[in-house]
Amino acid sequence: MPNRVVVGTQWGDEGKGKVVDILTEEADIVARYSGGANAGHTVVIDNEKFILHLVPTGILHKNKVCVIGNGMVIDLEHLFSELEELKKREITFQKRLLISPNVHLVMPYHKVLERLEEKARGKQKIGTTGRGIGPAYRDKIARRGIRTIDLLDSQRFEQRVEFNLRIREGLLSLLPEHELISLRHKSLNVLKLRRKVKPLLTDIGLFLHRSIRNGKNVIFEGAQGTLLDIDFGTYPYCTSSSTTVGGVCTGLGISPALVGEVIGVVKAYTTRVGDGPFPTEEKTKVGEILQESGNEFGATTGRPRRCGWLDLVMLKYSFRINGVSKIALTKLDVLDTFDKIKVCVGYRYRGKTSTEFVPDLRTLQNCQPVYKEIPGWQKSTEGITNFKRLPDKAKRYVDFISQKLKTPIFMISTGNKRDQTIRL
Ligand code: GDP
Ligand code: IMO
Ligand code: MG
Repeated sequence: MPNRVVVGTQWGDEGKGKVVDILTEEADIVARYSGGANAGHTVVIDNEKFILHLVPTGILHKNKVCVIGNGMVIDLEHLFSELEELKKREITFQKRLLISPNVHLVMPYHKVLERLEEKARGKQKIGTTGRGIGPAYRDKIARRGIRTIDLLDSQRFEQRVEFNLRIREGLLSLLPEHELISLRHKSLNVLKLRRKVKPLLTDIGLFLHRSIRNGKNVIFEGAQGTLLDIDFGTYPYCTSSSTTVGGVCTGLGISPALVGEVIGVVKAYTTRVGDGPFPTEEKTKVGEILQESGNEFGATTGRPRRCGWLDLVMLKYSFRINGVSKIALTKLDVLDTFDKIKVCVGYRYRGKTSTEFVPDLRTLQNCQPVYKEIPGWQKSTEGITNFKRLPDKAKRYVDFISQKLKTPIFMISTGNKRDQTIRL
């Protein structure tokens, strides 16, 4: 099996967790390359539900190695409580969880700064997950971040914490005195976790390179989605990391030549959590049905996800950036009850129709989607595992997507459970 990237092609929550879980069976290593605890990847095995935030999804398969790459940002307290929860469910991580020494830490002050900034933005808030992601990546780029390796030098660690608090004095002065004192304590206390972290630190680039050379194969687990990418997303309504395929190389230290197949995860309709433009959003009964049938509530924050029709203009853009080689289409079953299904094939803006996506706020906020209507199948597809068994109209919907995106379908998901899947 080749190495494979599993990448979100929309605004996240496409069902990457389920796809990674299935493909892990055929791989040796699962490596996450970007994002932090803003991610929420759901896997349902029989009737048991797991939501992974920082730990790579591969951890649910007993003998697979999991990697936290330097492109991520990690909140250590969150990481160890997630591992503790998994342990209670008999999932252990000893000798199979590796962390890059260069991964940046999300510190307690990052979460506080994010809260103060979102408040200051008022109506223009981004609607972040509140996990300290933006401030942590900002410190990385500003070369004042704290990495896991810095935990091994307590003096340097303390100096960096003090420096980071000092340069934020202005903003942090908005906090009551006792909160500021407690924030400083909490931040310095992160050092106490170093004993737990030290045994996990590994040169990830070298490890992956050697493993691949020795015939092992890797799933690169994407987090968020292409339209949340810091460069290619709907800026500033996006996250702060490189969520696209380029992030695999910079987030793990491997060559593009080793990336292999690009599996683009496409939800059969569109959702988005948080603020920002969304051309095909349905603030109607349709949106309500999608939200209810798809159980569209954020896996990290529990917020209701905004819902709308599939947007092929956006997907074409996303497929170009990622070079998607195969499609994993998820949540087809959620469309089962519609008599007509709409798919956006163009944007109409200022009297002109365009089929090229431009991540420009004004265009996206003011354009009218141009829809093609496709007949619905109005039969249950839930749990179908054989393509031939799909209703003809459902096959037509799937084929239409594949043709428009000029990309073959590789997997169709017909329910949230592991086995509710069609492989092609
Ligand atoms: P991720 O962030 O891309 O891993 O996706 P999330 O886990 O945040 O959200 C996807 C949600 O859809 C989860 O609740 C999954 O259990 C669920 N899910 C995944 N595939 C399917 C499917 O084919 N049908 C249905 N009904 N639910 C699905
Ligand atoms: P997974 O991996 C959906 C969104 C937030 C917000 C914006 C910025 O589960 O697909 P951040 O906290 O990253 O600064 O928030 O990005 N967001 C996600 N939306 N799925 C995710 O991850 C997301 N991670 C961040 O809702 O709009
Ligand atoms: Mg999610």
